[in-house]
Amino acid sequence: MRACLAALLPICASGGLAFAQAAGDPDAGSRIFTKCRACHQIGEGAQNAVGPVLNGIVGRPAGTYPGYSYSAANKGSGITWDEAAIRDYLHDPKLRVPGTKMVFAGIRSERELDNLLAFLRQFDPAGRKAP
Ligand code: HEC
Repeated sequence: MRACLAALLPICASGGLAFAQAAGDPDAGSRIFTKCRACHQIGEGAQNAVGPVLNGIVGRPAGTYPGYSYSAANKGSGITWDEAAIRDYLHDPKLRVPGTKMVFAGIRSERELDNLLAFLRQFDPAGRKAP
């Protein structure tokens, strides 16, 4: 019995990890989003605050949320926020967009970024969660 469990464990562990890396966990991402919530709103009824609303952020061109006053650095960055660009930015915002007014140390854990992206991806531009 013990041998059997020992044999199965690595498979379960690696299977679970592979799944999490591919998909990310939106609930875990929601908890990571508490780091962003001081400045950003998301979901239905979200308003611009210190930072712009993040509804529909995946695929959105930088500096384009209506009514938000962006820095020239962000507006002129030419970035489209696909998943790779968001990851790259969140590693170290000031490195990726020198002069950005987003004051955030960054997230280095790829796992946290997987989960955060799974959370962000859920919201369409109107802040509705995809079913
Ligand atoms: C201390 C406040 C603050 C925190 C915390 C913060 N941001 Fe920001 N964020 C900003 C500001 C301000 C801007 C606008 C930057 C500019 O115009 O230079 C911004 C811009 C952005 C943009 C670009 C949006 C666009 O429309 O171009 C993204 C993406 C973003 N933040 C994601 C995040 C995520 C995800 C987190 C959490 C991991 C986070 N931010 C944490 C203040 C913050």
